[in-house]
Amino acid sequence: MDFKNLAKQYGTPLYAYDFEKIKSNFLAYKKVFQARKSLICYALKANSNLSILAQIAALEGGADCVSIGEVRRAIKAGIKPYKIIFSGVGKRDDEIKEALDSEILFLNVESNDELLRIEAIAKKYNKNARISIRVNPDIDPKTHPYISTGLSENKFGIEIEEAKKLYIYAHKSNFLSPIGIHFHIGSQLTELEPILQSAQKIASFTKSLIALGINIKFFDVGGGIGICYKDENTISLYDYAQGILAAIKGLDVTIICEPGRSIVGESGYLITKVISQKQHKNKHFVIIDGAMNDLLRPSLYDAYHRPNHLSQKCQKNTNDSKLVDIVGPICESGDFLAKNILLNNVENGDLIVFENAGAYGYSMSSNYNTRTRACEIGIIHNKAHIIKPREELDQLFENELEGLAIFEDILNSRG
Ligand SMILES: Cc1ncc(COP(=O)(O)O)c(C=O)c1O
Repeated sequence: MDFKNLAKQYGTPLYAYDFEKIKSNFLAYKKVFQARKSLICYALKANSNLSILAQIAALEGGADCVSIGEVRRAIKAGIKPYKIIFSGVGKRDDEIKEALDSEILFLNVESNDELLRIEAIAKKYNKNARISIRVNPDIDPKTHPYISTGLSENKFGIEIEEAKKLYIYAHKSNFLSPIGIHFHIGSQLTELEPILQSAQKIASFTKSLIALGINIKFFDVGGGIGICYKDENTISLYDYAQGILAAIKGLDVTIICEPGRSIVGESGYLITKVISQKQHKNKHFVIIDGAMNDLLRPSLYDAYHRPNHLSQKCQKNTNDSKLVDIVGPICESGDFLAKNILLNNVENGDLIVFENAGAYGYSMSSNYNTRTRACEIGIIHNKAHIIKPREELDQLFENELEGLAIFEDILNSRG
């Protein structure tokens, strides 16, 4: 990617995604599961830009959504409703109703209470709700505690014994069809064993449900496969698929997989520019125009995104390397994008490009400190296209103007 030219053409901070990479990552999932019926439901939370979703739709992919906003996005981008699943620990009644109206494949149920609410809504509108239950296998995924989801202490899923009762209840209901089973133990997983242990545990539970006459047709193994940000071990997709296929041997089910990070993570770069520098007694700070509002992961999880320094000059002076912190302009000490990095002869105007920023980068960005969100571009067939323009400051104020007018009236009338 020609970062210097992209920065010149589109400005910074800028997210750039390689669509060929997204495509090849997605097709790799399809390939390893080709021996069985499978559906790859891309997890929108990683990056929900409509053009990325259109790429997934073109590859006949499905979608894993955690809000009705994501369901609408998926449908808008051309993903077929019957390939969409709706997960998430807190679905509102209106979201459940819209999901049922949209005829999505199923809702992943997260609690007894939610199951009863889905049933009541289905009954009220005389519908049959296809559901799957997210089972918490209580297995340690060995990842960062904020992205670990498969332990009993995490808020996600339902413990096996309770799940069994819910399946039996749903099976008898006139308004519920329990057609799937689901687990997802965490994100950025770098060890295969916990996933396979979970798959085996859930597969044997599935067999016990089928023995009760409950017709489970979809075996949803969640997402979670990690990528290499620094020097992490990565799981072989082939070994992963072989392990899952072995676990479900003898079960007549379609495999569903919900990858997010491993589809888009490596495809994305955050391109930023050095705006200033300062020296404290023991620390040199390189201040860039990107910040934690653009890429939250370093502040939130202490995550590493390799920063590449692109000097404006062709010749670098190699004698001036410094250990630096790369920080943004936001008023938080936690606003850093990299710490203790050795950089060479940095000058204002140079570019710092962060790697592996395609997942949980833009999708976690915010307007904190009234900063506009970055521009996003997609590179396809060697050509760059804007897939979301940079926000304008005026757009940030727009929704507040009506309230402002009312408040100004109130304040003026009180004198
Ligand atoms: C239920 C569920 N499915 C899929 C994913 C996607 O995970 P990843 O991006 O690690 O593949 C997540 C993310 O945490 C999730 O909670």
